[in-house]
Amino acid sequence: MVKVLFVCLGNICRSPMAEGLMRQYLVQENIQEVAVSSAATSTWEHGNPVHPGTKAILQREGIDTNQMFSTPVKASDFAEYDFIIGMDRQNVKDLKARAPHEYQDKIFLYLDAVEGHHNQDVPDPWYTGDFEETYRLLELGLDPWKIRFLNK
Ligand code: 4NP
Repeated sequence: MVKVLFVCLGNICRSPMAEGLMRQYLVQENIQEVAVSSAATSTWEHGNPVHPGTKAILQREGIDTNQMFSTPVKASDFAEYDFIIGMDRQNVKDLKARAPHEYQDKIFLYLDAVEGHHNQDVPDPWYTGDFEETYRLLELGLDPWKIRFLNK
């Protein structure tokens, strides 16, 4: 099993959206050997459900969010996961600061997989209010990330 962790600051807006969209995409593509989850670099929203803006978008796409609750990144996650994918450059910086040196290469920036968007952040709708923009950018990463997961 290839294990993937999407990470953002609160784990209520961007990373649960990425998790939900990728899980659905992998089902549609009939890929069973990749497992996805998500987590927060902060503890601020620990235990809270997804943001209503993310919930609305995922529900529209037919994805249930009722079992999704914010959880902080754990020290054991760096050994556990094969891909640890931050939504923005600050997430990547925070993850790299916490990861043991042997796991630094597991940490990626989401949009680095998307042609034309390298080194760009997935905007945080907690601040922008624009959940659709976040959704459009996350969609662009589904296929390129799938290919990377399968090439692991
Ligand atoms: P996320 O957005 O990192 O995409 O889940 C945020 C959610 C909560 C907060 C910041 C960003 N917060 O400050 O609580």
